[in-house]
Amino acid sequence: MSSQIDHLFSETRRFAPSSDFASAAVGSAELYERADADREAFWAEQARDLHWHTPFTKVLDWSNPPFATWFEDGELNVAYNCLDRHVEAGHGDRVALLWEGEPGDQRRVTYAELTDEVKRLANVLSDLGVSAGDRVAIYMPMIPEAVAAMLAVARIGAIHSVIFGGFSADSLRSRIDDAGAKLVITSDGGYRKGRVSPLKPAVDQALGDRGHGPQETVEHVLVVKRTENEVSWTDGRDVWWHDVVPAASADHEAQPFPAENPLFILYTSGTTGKPKGILHTSGGYLTQAAFTNKVVHDLHPETDVFWCTADIGWITGHSYVTYGPLANGVTQVLYEGTPDSPHPGRWWEIVEKYGVTILYTAPTAIRSFMKLGRAIPEKFDLSSLRLLGSVGEPINPEAWVWYRHVIGGDRTPIVDTWWQTETGAIMVSALPGVTETKPGSAQVPLPGIGVDVVDDSGQEVGNGGGGLLVLTKPWPSMLRGIWGDPERFKETYWDKFEQQGYYFAGDGARLDEDGDVWFLGRVDDVMNVSGHRLSTTEIESALVGNEAVAEAAVVGASDETTGQAVVAFVIIKQSFLDQHSPEGLADTLRKWVGEQIGPIARPRDVYIVGELPKTRSGKIMRRLLRDVAEGREVGDTTTLADTAVMSVISAQVK
Ligand code: PRX
Repeated sequence: MSSQIDHLFSETRRFAPSSDFASAAVGSAELYERADADREAFWAEQARDLHWHTPFTKVLDWSNPPFATWFEDGELNVAYNCLDRHVEAGHGDRVALLWEGEPGDQRRVTYAELTDEVKRLANVLSDLGVSAGDRVAIYMPMIPEAVAAMLAVARIGAIHSVIFGGFSADSLRSRIDDAGAKLVITSDGGYRKGRVSPLKPAVDQALGDRGHGPQETVEHVLVVKRTENEVSWTDGRDVWWHDVVPAASADHEAQPFPAENPLFILYTSGTTGKPKGILHTSGGYLTQAAFTNKVVHDLHPETDVFWCTADIGWITGHSYVTYGPLANGVTQVLYEGTPDSPHPGRWWEIVEKYGVTILYTAPTAIRSFMKLGRAIPEKFDLSSLRLLGSVGEPINPEAWVWYRHVIGGDRTPIVDTWWQTETGAIMVSALPGVTETKPGSAQVPLPGIGVDVVDDSGQEVGNGGGGLLVLTKPWPSMLRGIWGDPERFKETYWDKFEQQGYYFAGDGARLDEDGDVWFLGRVDDVMNVSGHRLSTTEIESALVGNEAVAEAAVVGASDETTGQAVVAFVIIKQSFLDQHSPEGLADTLRKWVGEQIGPIARPRDVYIVGELPKTRSGKIMRRLLRDVAEGREVGDTTTLADTAVMSVISAQVK
């Protein structure tokens, strides 16, 4: 880690904004001044860019921290803001979604068409018994209906919980249960890597083994037909989308809801085995998602073609596929499949075909393209691109410079954007056309955002120092809590710096001499694999759930492409070894984790060992296992109960 950090700080390349870009940029230096002069007035001004059925008179209420309210007495309809108001302003014919399926099928959906579809679906949801405050689980591929589903739920004041299509039936079930979802919206499947990836069977499995007992909250499953997949059907419960949505009325007036009406729950990994249901509300969330999308991505809705490659199952897909771009009325690309199907130039083909002007993606994708070589993107005309963005994990300077040079033709600014599921929207980033950029640094807090780096006791480290990243002031799109668990909300984010009233983000960071922020990765048991958050504990509990495993320890080891990779150390039960051969067991356990949680959690390596390194109080020292997983000399072992254990483990791993 320390050599990595030294390497980062010897990075001196700088990229000043071009005068062309700067002269037409949406962002400006003046935004910072206005926000500094009066932060609340600044956010109120951004909120007034939305349509309020009832204008707010209050901005922030922080009298009961850490529970904030923003724009509390205002009322709005989130879907109206993303749809109807653009149609009413005469932009109904503008394309909202340029959709491309993995097999190459295409659909162009205008704002008027999407509004119509969402109105019909809102009527269907009401017919299916869903009303304001009810929870709806969405488990779908990247098709226009997924975006419509989120908006229709929002339109009627219900709460969506989108579950990434790559999660298993078990993960789906625990999320459905935690939220007490009344309806599940899914599809028969989607196309991934040239094959149909089924979704409905996982829903059937998640719901199936409970029958219709009193504990079952799900009343209906609404199913989009996307593939030719055969699906099994539960009469009375399952409903085909194509049977009900086209037949429903397209008259639906959007009702106003209070600004603090919950909009969605999104589950994310924390430091324990149980994912947290991060709760976001309406007015503040939409304000900050729309504002950041506009200024960080420099949106010019009349001319831009925006493409955020994230799946709607993650926060990036919520804020920069569904809510930000549609609130801004921009045209965007929505792509169903993987970057390399059916050929490794697929993304660049899409950029060329649709004339994408702004591309927002993750460092892991950039690094895998780098590995494949520049010859692939060079076959395509990427000259439409004028701005590139990065999100999800630290981007190493080499990948940053490659991205700018090969994809951006040395023309495009790059914005490295730091934020989290919990923050709801971008918090730290350069503003294109304003900030001189530095490869490897996410740089500066956005206007209206308070960020600092502090030591363990909450003292500022100052320029040149390293420590923990904190958010010093409440922000409009901040999480309002953890679904059903206010204690955990306080404990996880606020207790550590309670005295100062700071939000603890869980990230290590350094400030350079200019005060710019360089992110250094998580400081807790959360891993970041390909920009996806995974909990070491969650994977450990999946492993010990297997009949063969007595104990397990999981670490995130650095990986050239995925940033971190999951590496597991497991002890096998003697009773199991008495009856079975250990042959192929590591592979079986890798698959097992994939089935329990989802393929993204599948360990890169599973090492079968005889012991795990523990302190005298029984705590596993993951730091030492990380040394082994990364092939380094093992660090200080003096606090281990048995100091010899690491040499045994190292020998077993070899
Ligand atoms: O560690 C930080 C990393 O991703 C974490 C948040 O993960 P998640 O809630 O899944 O949201 C990801 C997409 C916003 C953070 O705690 N992270 C995200 N963006 C960056 C980053 N680390 C460094 N640089 C970034 N730009």
